[in-house]
Amino acid sequence: MLNPIELLKDDHEKVKKLFEQIADTSNQAEKTREKLFLTIERELRVHTTIEEEILYPALRQAAKNDEQRRLYFEAVEEHKAVDLLLPSVREAAFGTNEFAAKVKVLKEIVEHHVEEEEGEMFPLVKKLFSREQLAELGERLDARKKELMAEGS
Ligand SMILES: [Fe+2]
Ligand SMILES: [Fe+2]
Repeated sequence: MLNPIELLKDDHEKVKKLFEQIADTSNQAEKTREKLFLTIERELRVHTTIEEEILYPALRQAAKNDEQRRLYFEAVEEHKAVDLLLPSVREAAFGTNEFAAKVKVLKEIVEHHVEEEEGEMFPLVKKLFSREQLAELGERLDARKKELMAEGS
């Protein structure tokens, strides 16, 4: 079966590596920064979109109490923070300390968010959904991801 958790964790791993690469660049490496940043931006948009369209609403519906719903609401707000930060990073020139600082803050927010998803939300998802439901979520996430990637969004 297509495991939804593994699919999302693979995305996390990929973005984590891209952030490590971009954090290692100097102000002189403008072209590399630009290329890495555009890839990060695209990966984040596709990933947050499939979570927001498919996983999060399923979790919200299945949540049994406020503590479980809290994970949903926090994740939504963290995605919003990322959405706000992305254009601001883009405004900074690639070869500047300002760009490096903005990328570092974005990296920290994303890492924190990933920790919460992998540490709290995904274990809850595994608990709340049956094998069949998980397989269905996996199929939907995968199909939507392919669609978004093809659109080049
Ligand atoms: Fe997320
Ligand atoms: Fe995620």
